[in-house]
Amino acid sequence: MSNPMIKVENLHKSFGDLKVLKDVNLEVEKGETISIIGPSGSGKSTLLRCLIYLEKATEGNILIEDQAIALNVEGKQQHIAEPQIRKNCSKLGMVFQNFNLFPHKTALENIIEAPVIVAGKSKAEAVKHAEELLAKVGLSDKRDEYPCYLSGGQKQRVAIARALAMEPDVMLFDEPTSALDPELIGEVLNVIKALAQDKMTMIIVTHEMSFAREVSDRVIFMDQGNIIEAAEPQKLFNNPDHPRIKTFLDKML
Ligand SMILES: Nc1ncnc2c1ncn2[C@@H]1O[C@H](COP(=O)(O)OP(=O)(O)OP(=O)(O)O)[C@@H](O)[C@H]1O
Ligand SMILES: [Mg+2]
Repeated sequence: MSNPMIKVENLHKSFGDLKVLKDVNLEVEKGETISIIGPSGSGKSTLLRCLIYLEKATEGNILIEDQAIALNVEGKQQHIAEPQIRKNCSKLGMVFQNFNLFPHKTALENIIEAPVIVAGKSKAEAVKHAEELLAKVGLSDKRDEYPCYLSGGQKQRVAIARALAMEPDVMLFDEPTSALDPELIGEVLNVIKALAQDKMTMIIVTHEMSFAREVSDRVIFMDQGNIIEAAEPQKLFNNPDHPRIKTFLDKML
């Protein structure tokens, strides 16, 4: 088997005295869709944020296609140069709960910003790709609209197109539908579902249990900074090993 797309080993993350991630281990294969579920405060967002280096791991290894963004050798956390970390993290794209679009830029301008400024693409090339991505998320007609004139679901689809514009190998989603009115959730989940069918590698933190069950190759349950079970959705939802998961699921459904 080829090397995993993402490998997390013995990952710890503390904020001061607060231990938020405690010895997390995870491998994500290329093309896999993984959902992370679990109670509030269990460390789901912190795990994603460590992967994309919005937070710095306190201890442990994080490898993206074998390239380290955190590395521990014989109990000592190694220094990795910032440019190296940025380069390795550029394989990841992330979508947040609150869209984080640039309010003073149109949908198209939001999408071409990073490809032009960060990746150095020509504007013509970036625009062409952005138009393809807008079509893909069903928003060709909103090309020149500003975010304030878009619905939450439309904003989130622009945010997904914007992340895809950097041609990531992995997409991370942190509760992409939690800020949406119920009737807008489906349009965003459908875009993510299509990405899963295209075999995009994805890690999705979500409270949408039926969605997680439907799209995931594996579901991970986190509690108090640990992964307490990782299994195929069928197993995790129908017959979890851990009683804590059953209690959580009963409350969710
Ligand atoms: N920058 C920070 N400084 C201090 N504590 C933090 C910081 N970020 C997160 N925490 C704490 O870390 C713990 C885990 O937070 P995290 O956001 O990862 O949980 P979560 O599983 O994503 O929860 P939710 O489902 O509510 O989004 C919480 O106790 C939180 O208060
Ligand atoms: Mg969170």
